[in-house]
Amino acid sequence: MTPWTDRRRRPLEDLRISVIDKCNFRCRYCMPEEAFRHHQFLKRDELLSFDEIERFVRIIAPHGVKKVRLTGGEPLLRPNLDELIRRLRAVTTIETIGLTTNGVYLERMAKALKQAGLDRVNVSLDALSAETFGMMNGRGTSPETVLRGIDEAKRQGLEVKVNMVVRKGWNDHEVAPMAAYFKERNITLRYIEFMDVGTANEWNVEHVVSSESILEVLKQRNGLLEPLAPETLGEVAQRYRYTDGAQVGFISSVSQPFCGTCTRGRLSSDGKWYTCLFAEDGTDIRELLRSGASDELIAMTLKMVWEVRDDRYSEERSRSGNRTRNRIEMSYIGG
Ligand code: GTP
Ligand code: 5AD
Ligand code: SF4
Ligand code: SF4
Repeated sequence: MTPWTDRRRRPLEDLRISVIDKCNFRCRYCMPEEAFRHHQFLKRDELLSFDEIERFVRIIAPHGVKKVRLTGGEPLLRPNLDELIRRLRAVTTIETIGLTTNGVYLERMAKALKQAGLDRVNVSLDALSAETFGMMNGRGTSPETVLRGIDEAKRQGLEVKVNMVVRKGWNDHEVAPMAAYFKERNITLRYIEFMDVGTANEWNVEHVVSSESILEVLKQRNGLLEPLAPETLGEVAQRYRYTDGAQVGFISSVSQPFCGTCTRGRLSSDGKWYTCLFAEDGTDIRELLRSGASDELIAMTLKMVWEVRDDRYSEERSRSGNRTRNRIEMSYIGG
């Protein structure tokens, strides 16, 4: 079947599926406790069922999708997630299945996830000191809990990367210790520039620590870094290699936007189809799935939405400083 491309000739290659909007953390840059105390999370019957997610994936996969990534909120809060992975693994055209998690339940679940067919896990960890990490995750959870999850995931043979959102004044002093810790263990750490997703995190450009400044720190402290070519067209991180072979990455959507190669479509946990992380609204696919629409009609709808896609929010923000008003929250769409 022919791959779908948008108005900027970008193919649809990656599918990010949020399986739940709830999270057991209250990261200050994502779901600050104050802003989410009275938040109405989705009800059980508002979430897509596994049958619905599987049907969606089977409809869209033949049109170019190579990679599926499960996200949340916190995806491991969705009961029986391994069952969903097993079903998606059976869709033969999909090359890799990844998961982005805060890692709290990873130690317990890594084995079942691997057995179900999961390939890769990206684990968020913003600091190694208990005080800083506890403050940033808003729940006082210790870094050791997450580190044990990372170790277990590696032991089970999952490919693991670590994501660190760097927010000036909160955890920028952890940049070097985090680099040393993960370099020694040959685990790729990716530094993420704090983004203006959603409206709850009180983003301000002053709080962004640029990838360039982090790269300087690493060059001075941890030895030479050699830039690596992207492995895939839509790779969000710029990767570098230390002299000992370990890698580090930078996700610089504020200072160096990557919209030009953005191949990502997003399905929210209540079944809306979004063509950008910063979109104001999505297309209601749940309504179609539940109203007896045929696979053909659903495919046609998704295709039409992708073909008129012209999103490049991060590029526009950096050029004009423009920020749309009704941005969706990161915890809802899954990053
Ligand atoms: P890999 O397949 O391992 O490269 O995963 P990934 O980096 O695409 O996914 P992950 O969930 O680990 O996301 C890492 C960071 O990149 C998060 O902060 C995401 O919000 C951000 N990110 C992922 N895709 C996009 C995107 O399309 N646009 C922007 N602006 N940020 C993105
Ligand atoms: N800016 C950048 N990254 C963010 N994440 C959550 N909120 C933000 C933000 N405002 C990250 C998480 C996780 C990934 C899905 O997105 O830490 O690693
Ligand atoms: Fe933190 Fe991820 Fe939960 Fe947001 S969804 S609060 S980034 S763990
Ligand atoms: Fe893609 Fe939108 Fe992110 Fe740009 S801002 S890379 S178009 S999701």
